[in-house]
Amino acid sequence: MSKVGCALAALVGCCLATAAFGETYVPGQQVEKDFRGFVEPFLTTHCNDCHGKDFPEADLTLEGLGPVDEVNADVWTRVWAQVALKEMPPKEEEQPEVIARLQFADWIVAQLKGVLKDKGGFEAQLDPNKGNFVDHDLLFGPLPEGIQLRPTSSPARIWRVTPQEHITRLNELINTEPGFDPQKPGLRTHGDAVPTNHGGELKLYFGVDRITKWQGGTVAYATAVKSVPAVLSSARAHGLENYPDFYSVNSAEATQILGMADDILRYMAHGPLSIAEPYQISDDTKAVMQKWDGDIRGLPTSLVYNTQVVRPLTPVKDLLEAEEVDSTQLQAAVDYVFQAVTFRPPTKQESQAYVQIAQQSIDKLGQEDGAILGLSAIFLDRDALFRPELATSGKPDEHGRVMLQDWELGMAVNHALRYIQPDETLQSAIVEGRLRTKEDVRREVERMLADDSIRKPRVLQFFRDYFDYDLGGYICKDAKALGDTGAGGGNAHYSAMFDATASTDRLIELILAEDQDVLKRLLTTEKIVATPGDKVYYGTRRTQPDIAASLKQEKEALAAWLEEHPNGKAADFKKRNKTNHKVEVAELSGPKIFARVSRRSFGAGSMKPERILATAPEGERLGILTQPSWLVSHSDAMDNHAIRRGRWIRERLLGGGIPDVPITVDAMLPDEPNNTLRERMRVTRESYCRTCHEKMDPLGLPFEMFNHAGLHRTTELGQPVDTSGEIIDSGDPNLDGKVDNAIDLIKKLSESERVEQVFVRHAFRFWMGRNETLNDAPVLQAADQAYQESGGSMKALLTSLLTSDAFLYRTRDETDAPQ
Ligand code: HEC
Ligand code: HEC
Repeated sequence: MSKVGCALAALVGCCLATAAFGETYVPGQQVEKDFRGFVEPFLTTHCNDCHGKDFPEADLTLEGLGPVDEVNADVWTRVWAQVALKEMPPKEEEQPEVIARLQFADWIVAQLKGVLKDKGGFEAQLDPNKGNFVDHDLLFGPLPEGIQLRPTSSPARIWRVTPQEHITRLNELINTEPGFDPQKPGLRTHGDAVPTNHGGELKLYFGVDRITKWQGGTVAYATAVKSVPAVLSSARAHGLENYPDFYSVNSAEATQILGMADDILRYMAHGPLSIAEPYQISDDTKAVMQKWDGDIRGLPTSLVYNTQVVRPLTPVKDLLEAEEVDSTQLQAAVDYVFQAVTFRPPTKQESQAYVQIAQQSIDKLGQEDGAILGLSAIFLDRDALFRPELATSGKPDEHGRVMLQDWELGMAVNHALRYIQPDETLQSAIVEGRLRTKEDVRREVERMLADDSIRKPRVLQFFRDYFDYDLGGYICKDAKALGDTGAGGGNAHYSAMFDATASTDRLIELILAEDQDVLKRLLTTEKIVATPGDKVYYGTRRTQPDIAASLKQEKEALAAWLEEHPNGKAADFKKRNKTNHKVEVAELSGPKIFARVSRRSFGAGSMKPERILATAPEGERLGILTQPSWLVSHSDAMDNHAIRRGRWIRERLLGGGIPDVPITVDAMLPDEPNNTLRERMRVTRESYCRTCHEKMDPLGLPFEMFNHAGLHRTTELGQPVDTSGEIIDSGDPNLDGKVDNAIDLIKKLSESERVEQVFVRHAFRFWMGRNETLNDAPVLQAADQAYQESGGSMKALLTSLLTSDAFLYRTRDETDAPQ
């Protein structure tokens, strides 16, 4: 026998031996299994008793299904979901071995990816909403023998910036935001994200910090002011909104960005003169008003700007105001704009290329238009719209992973917390080669986390994505249904909801500032940040007899007043003593604080930063999930959305997963205005629907103690409201059982270690930009440990995540990357 033969024999022998003792499974490695030898027998053993050819359960025949192809891809997708989530085979049946289950699920995903390549591909497993498909107990518990983890890393990739990030970046070019004021830490500050306006729109505004007068009201003002809306698209409303590869930039967006760049560059050069007539810029408001010719509401000429210069003055101004084009000035403007929109200095080649483009367009179009067109091109640079993490330089380690370094690493660290350019200290660390090791990253992250003046809007964005409390203003309410809740009608409700988002933002920041037991406090705080209008939203919807009593009381008070004021008018009295008879308003008091809202001066419609830090009515509220912002975000036009609330708890707190709504299901509740939501939801308790819905609905129904505008209530349709619910199949036996109401439910959940771990999983997803795999188990466990040992510090959790291999390392070769 030759030497090679011997070696082969030994190898075969060794493999047979391991096979006999059970197999080794390496997560992410291609599964060397085939349909006939492994998958079909798996189905025969575990599934076909129930899903055979005759009388199959759920009308689903798996016997004879055959390998994955385009036609049966949908069935295989459902099989994958059921098996990965450990729903099938049913709990009471004999379960497949852990490794066999993992291999079966991996095999399906690999096959679906191959088969659907030309049909848009298969990426469901990468979706953040499917993150929980990875078994929680395997991530945090002991691993069964035979599973061998690989040192983790993330794939090399580019991230498109989010709309908010993009606007915030561009805002830096034309507006000077106020510096951090430790006395008023809630106010909007340089480095915070540009907030949506009072109508929930995300826009970049020009010159609003100089407008001193306008004709007309809020609407006229909003139309007259120069603004450009966010261009980049964002299709997701719920959950994590931004993974790499979710989004690209299409040609229509590119065209719009060029238009935006034109506006921005002209404003950078000329200030309000680029958007107004010279006479409108004056400190003599009256003189300008005299020029107002009749009704010009909503027109750009209906505004008066003061003469202060508040925008940043930059080399772009110098270039455009110069007598003639000077090549040093051109270069300076190019470099300035490049760094402002990409956050790093251009390389020599980049700089030269853009100078050349600008010079050519100046030659063609003249100094002003040419320079502007030339500089506009920089706004479309890849790095102005995407953040690369390609790890093209650097040597792979023995596992094929490359650590990010210098600019890519610095940008990753910066982006983990911020939307604007790296601060000076971080920039010098990058440039001086002091951002290359895990310790370097820890130093910078800890420094930035400790400094309140370094604003960190990404942290707040995580909580928005995680809790989904920022959607309330976008839920269109049926006017009558809204009226019935006792909340203010029409536009007042929508502005109240945008205010509610800002209030919850602020509350989260206050809890983050203390940085102790962060998740638990978020879930169980009795504190609320409140506007005057919140007296109603935190109030209790009155029952019919209470309304009658309130009306009677008003009548008596009026009678008494008329006795004292014989000439008084009843209408005057009512106007002065406005009573919302439908609501027992909450008594809210507490110290004054500020919330971050859009800029002043949307007239009467503008949001006001002044708030109070109050305590919610006792026994009625507990934490974020009972705030109107969250409740309304999880409601619909007519009613509460108990299913979605329950789903939120199942996924974001318990770490469970629900397979997608089958396309054959008509997901509609009966339209029965005289029945409660709970009653109408009886259809989801039918046997087929129940398997999915029993995991969601009983977790959402305890929130029936609130109506769909978020007011507390004790009755519904004249009957005592039923707020009972149940936790089943949570994965934590201490949790399972009945609950009386939302408060009871939340208290239980907030005590659970599992809930805390699920929170860590979501933080991982947000900051790594991908779903966790089994290979990330050590990273998740370290993060969880850091969180626990620090007494629930978000800073400790973040530092752990941002110094993890998953954050620092990239794998360039796609086939090698963990999936
Ligand atoms: C003991 C009987 C039983 C076994 C064994 C069983 N199932 Fe099921 N399966 C059911 C029932 C019953 C339903 C209907 C939903 C429910 O009640 O859980 C169902 C539902 C399903 C569904 C959802 C149907 C749909 O329309 O999307 C899928 C997919 C599925 N099973 C796959 C499997 C797979 C794969 C296996 C083997 C790994 C398996 N089942 C094993 C009883 C079984
Ligand atoms: C395979 C799991 C599954 C099954 C089976 C299922 N559903 Fe659902 N259903 C879901 C999920 C997940 C949602 C949540 C969607 C969301 O987040 O809005 C949902 C939502 C709904 C909604 C709310 C829709 C909305 O957005 O207002 C209704 C109503 C509903 N299902 C009814 C049914 C009925 C009736 C059946 C049985 C005929 C059924 N479902 C079976 C998973 C399922």
